[in-house]
Amino acid sequence: MGVLDIFSSGNMDTCWFLTITAIVIVVTKALLSRSKSVPGPWGFPIIGHLPLLGKNPLKQFEHYRAIYGDVYKIQLGVWPTVIINGHHTVRKVLGEQSDSFAARPAFNSFKSIENMTTLTFSYFNPRYLLHRKIASSVVREYATKHSKKMEEILQDEVDVIVNEFIRQNGKPFDPHKTVLEATGSFIYQFCYGKGENVRDDDDFLKYIKDFNDFEEIAKAGNPTDLLPWMGFLFQKKIQKFNKLIKDATKSRKKKIGELLETFDLKHIRHAVDLLMSKIIKYELGDEPNEIGLTKNDVLGVVGDYSGAGFDTSAKAFLWLLLYMAEYPEVQTKIQEEIEEKIGNRRVTANDREQMPWTEATIIESMRLAGVSPLGLPHCATEDVFVNGYMIKKGTVVLFNYYSVGHDKQWDDTFKFKPERFLDSEGKLNKSKIESVLSFSAGRRRCPGEVLARNELFLLLASVLHKCQIRKPQQEEYDLEGVFGATYSPKPYNICVLSREF
Ligand code: HEM
Repeated sequence: MGVLDIFSSGNMDTCWFLTITAIVIVVTKALLSRSKSVPGPWGFPIIGHLPLLGKNPLKQFEHYRAIYGDVYKIQLGVWPTVIINGHHTVRKVLGEQSDSFAARPAFNSFKSIENMTTLTFSYFNPRYLLHRKIASSVVREYATKHSKKMEEILQDEVDVIVNEFIRQNGKPFDPHKTVLEATGSFIYQFCYGKGENVRDDDDFLKYIKDFNDFEEIAKAGNPTDLLPWMGFLFQKKIQKFNKLIKDATKSRKKKIGELLETFDLKHIRHAVDLLMSKIIKYELGDEPNEIGLTKNDVLGVVGDYSGAGFDTSAKAFLWLLLYMAEYPEVQTKIQEEIEEKIGNRRVTANDREQMPWTEATIIESMRLAGVSPLGLPHCATEDVFVNGYMIKKGTVVLFNYYSVGHDKQWDDTFKFKPERFLDSEGKLNKSKIESVLSFSAGRRRCPGEVLARNELFLLLASVLHKCQIRKPQQEEYDLEGVFGATYSPKPYNICVLSREF
């Protein structure tokens, strides 16, 4: 058969197939040849842009954005990294191309955490999808079906916070330690069940200590994530990091083992029980199932919750207290709402729906503070186009959620204005809330969001129910954050007076 015979009637299907294939190849080649490489600033050899980012990379990112637009490329040590900025582009990419950015880069720290098999640091594959489905459904069930447990724990935590605040007798004090212990205690009891006096529990005290040590190490970042060849200079630090991870994993497994001795499917007590109920549902065992997930991997999600749900919530609540002291008129609005809707009884999670001012204040605080400014690093799973630029598979991608919350679309961007989230009837404007992206979007969206939102609401409404928060005379607040894994407020003091009802 000659080449042209292919077009004879008997071969029409083959002919169509080849014609379409040829068109696809030509169009793809044309697109690729026209595709622009991602623009970006000049950087140093070997170390790239690391020395140029300063103490607060968010400022430098804003500067680069003004020059190069929403999508630009920098070099973080050995990793080519694309930063995706701005409300429009971040939402579009996470809405329409989420799968293309759903992996995590193989940083040394991520690899040292159970070789990237935990949920948070996992590669993107069917195993991850089931792992995540289970983790999300456990949080959702806890915050809805078991919301009474959540409320009881938080009410106890509120009592501790309020007593501690009022004990200061109106004098200036730093609320940092009290808040950190309360949010740590909440996430710990969510994972392992309500304790009578959790602050005397050795396992809890170890969890808080490990977390502080971990934060201390993580604060400066792990230089070998970005510059692996520097490993020999940081041996001690790396050993300390690995030991912390190993010890925390050992304590967690011991605690889980003890709890499972009394597991009863009909009496769910905490996240460990809920995870166990999913292990039964999906029939997972010690050996990996067909997609590679084991019972142990699922129980390990407790480590993801306690790692990701502690510092974030603590910093979010610390920002809220700071804004309440700085903007007493907003605090008064919330207290009026509390008086009208709650009166003398305890606040419950169901009150969220009827307290739009309180909700709007929490959302505005998350927007303005930008607690998790860059989320966690993503990695491109394939060659993919964004705004006409080709991002290559394996490129590290940072989504700049801080830029989303501070984009031009928000009028008076840097002002604290909770009312921006309310419509003319005083109801919450859902689409505006969705635009903030404090919890990210798409495949890697925070699975703890529903719990965190309930937690912040119950803490804020209950504390303002009982306390008047004031800025100390003579104290000027610096409202710019400190950049790290989370964006924290600088240390500050408040004064607290008891509210009489
Ligand atoms: C105010 C509190 C919180 C904020 C602002 C927050 C925000 C975020 C953000 C931005 C991400 C990263 C998304 C990305 O990859 O870009 C994330 C991931 C995650 N968060 Fe949260 N979070 C909060 C509380 C919680 C809580 C309470 C839990 C657990 C109960 C939790 C569990 C997780 C987990 C497990 C991940 C990793 C998800 C994955 O990689 O699939 N978070 N969170």
